[in-house]
Amino acid sequence: MAFRNDTRKRAPNADGLIATLLLDWYDVHHRDLPWRMPPRQLAKGERPDPYRVWLSEIMLQQTTVEAVKPYFRAFLEKWPDVRSLASADTEDVMKAWAGLGYYSRARNLKACAEAVAALPGSRFPDTEAGLRELPGIGPYTAAAIASIAFNRPAAVVDGNVERVVTRLFSIATPLPEAKPEIRAHVERMLAAARPGDFAQAMMDLGATICTPRRPRCMLCPLREDCSATANGDPELYPVKPAKAERPTRRGAAFVAVAPDGSVLLRKRPGKGLLGGMTEVPTTGWTARVDGATGADAAPFPAAWRRTGSITHVFTHFALDLDVFRADLTSPLLPHDHFWSAAKDLAGEALPSVMKKVIEAAIPGATQRGR
Ligand code: ADE
Repeated sequence: MAFRNDTRKRAPNADGLIATLLLDWYDVHHRDLPWRMPPRQLAKGERPDPYRVWLSEIMLQQTTVEAVKPYFRAFLEKWPDVRSLASADTEDVMKAWAGLGYYSRARNLKACAEAVAALPGSRFPDTEAGLRELPGIGPYTAAAIASIAFNRPAAVVDGNVERVVTRLFSIATPLPEAKPEIRAHVERMLAAARPGDFAQAMMDLGATICTPRRPRCMLCPLREDCSATANGDPELYPVKPAKAERPTRRGAAFVAVAPDGSVLLRKRPGKGLLGGMTEVPTTGWTARVDGATGADAAPFPAAWRRTGSITHVFTHFALDLDVFRADLTSPLLPHDHFWSAAKDLAGEALPSVMKKVIEAAIPGATQRGR
């Protein structure tokens, strides 16, 4: 099907009208989220806690609202404000973050908390520019915090917003080239009176109505104004660039078990993929099938037996690991490794890929409350 750019004449106040329709819808249909201050409370003059807004935005950078909720609650319980997070033990923060992925973000989170705690009154800067100075806060997150926590008229453009806007205006330019055009539309639509609610309303519309597949256009407050709906082709937007293929890498992972059930672990280097996280010893992860992937590549000789294999998909590659287990009668301790008792395993800063590996060797070992 051919793409059509929007040719309909729009009323001069159409952008303002879109904001009004969207906010009216949000007042009734907004999602109740643990970090969100609902419109009725804002109307009474209450203000969101910038710490909660910041923490949620950092967590939401990498995963879904549903996945973030338990992490957000656990962080708030342990560290209810920016000062307590600033003085937390870095290792504890990494452990609480484990499973959310991209661990450099957990380190930046801690560094950011320390930077804010050192500011007058331990208060977050209330402008996009001020927020951008802080570790781990890029343009999107600065705009989101400035708008949601401080009601600044910042254009907040995430994947949901890109979808809503490219449909509203039938923007046929593929992403990412379409980004400036999308941003210009958002800036025009921004509701001067309630920018924070406008940003969150766009997110909610994208998450609940203007979904990637089978959008629920009949329920959309903007359907009368939506060019793609008028053309009957909302699912064509946003137009994506052709995808590069994701390569597969391979390797082997070694789960050494002591007589008391302890497991041999080590820490990954601080920089790079899964930096600073904990892992069992593995071979290198190589794109070549003929790399060292068998028991002969184990860190030390033992009665290694293959217990299975796992696959984990990272952003830029998929990883297949063969998993080997050895039950040692007289455990040794290779340089830079440590033994983690069975009861402590669930609390180690193990990334999801390593939980899969250990589960393939010792079922249930990484689940809490064992
Ligand atoms: N995605 C990113 N930030 C969000 C927020 N504040 N609410 C819902 N979804 C989001």
